Amino acid sequence: MSSLQNKSLVSINDYTPEELIQILDIAESFEKKMPAGLLEDKVISTLFYEPSTRTRLSFESAVNRLGGHIVGFSEAANSSVTKGETLKDTVLTVSNYSDLIVIRHPVEGSARYASEIAPVPVVNAGDGANQHPTQTLLDLYSIRKTQGTLDGLNIFMVGDLKYGRTVHSLLIALSEFNTTFNFISPEELRVPEGYKLILEKKGLKYYEHTDFTEIISRADIVYMTRVQRERFSDPLEYEKVKNIYILRKSMLENTKENMRILHPLPRVNEIDTSVDSSPKAYYFQQALNGVYVRQAIIASILGLV
Ligand code: CP
Repeated sequence: MSSLQNKSLVSINDYTPEELIQILDIAESFEKKMPAGLLEDKVISTLFYEPSTRTRLSFESAVNRLGGHIVGFSEAANSSVTKGETLKDTVLTVSNYSDLIVIRHPVEGSARYASEIAPVPVVNAGDGANQHPTQTLLDLYSIRKTQGTLDGLNIFMVGDLKYGRTVHSLLIALSEFNTTFNFISPEELRVPEGYKLILEKKGLKYYEHTDFTEIISRADIVYMTRVQRERFSDPLEYEKVKNIYILRKSMLENTKENMRILHPLPRVNEIDTSVDSSPKAYYFQQALNGVYVRQAIIASILGLV
């Protein structure tokens, strides 16, 4: 029996490095040959209190392609939340209708709370600026697939490193794999101190920069991120930093042959569309990898692999 059976995935710290690798291996086998019908009698609910394209639809695609069923809502406005229903009541009710709950919510800690009260496992699809662990697993999958390893890589993280939840979970996961980090952000959007402390405790090297044009040649992975407009309380502060980094094709000239550009998407302006035709642009394949990885997560938690 998998050690992940019935185990909620709320934070990337919930999984050991061995369990992370186990998910990647299962996802790889699903990419090679998808086990049609694996989720035949299973119902998965998706409760999205915040907008989403990739996470929600890739979960739905993942389940549909394995013969399972999806219930849920894509915005709280379509649910009884508008009548004042609490998160607790919604989660307890939906637990009756499904074998596993996937939840995205703007409040940090909401997925943890849901996992503590729900009688079925809960998967965090993003809680505020905190964590996005299923994105991290697909990011790890994409890194391993393109680099052939997770060990000893030089990872550049660019953009909103303060509010970007995908950055926070990925940083924690990669800290298990002897990674060197280069953080590129404006002063206002630097990686929170708590994350840097974790790296220091593990003896990992990290460097902070406000520009990366001169150093991009050292990168194995450039992980671009969007400035998270929805997390700013002052719109003027957002306006100041929104277009601070734009990756252009000319910047790729002296980069490593095998360097790949990742982005959790959606992008706004931070990757110029001219980059899309470069073989180093990997963000749309990265989004596809989300299907295999989310299938692996669901199948593991439901004890089907
Ligand atoms: N990467 C990601 O979380 O995208 P969505 O917001 O579209 O789900």
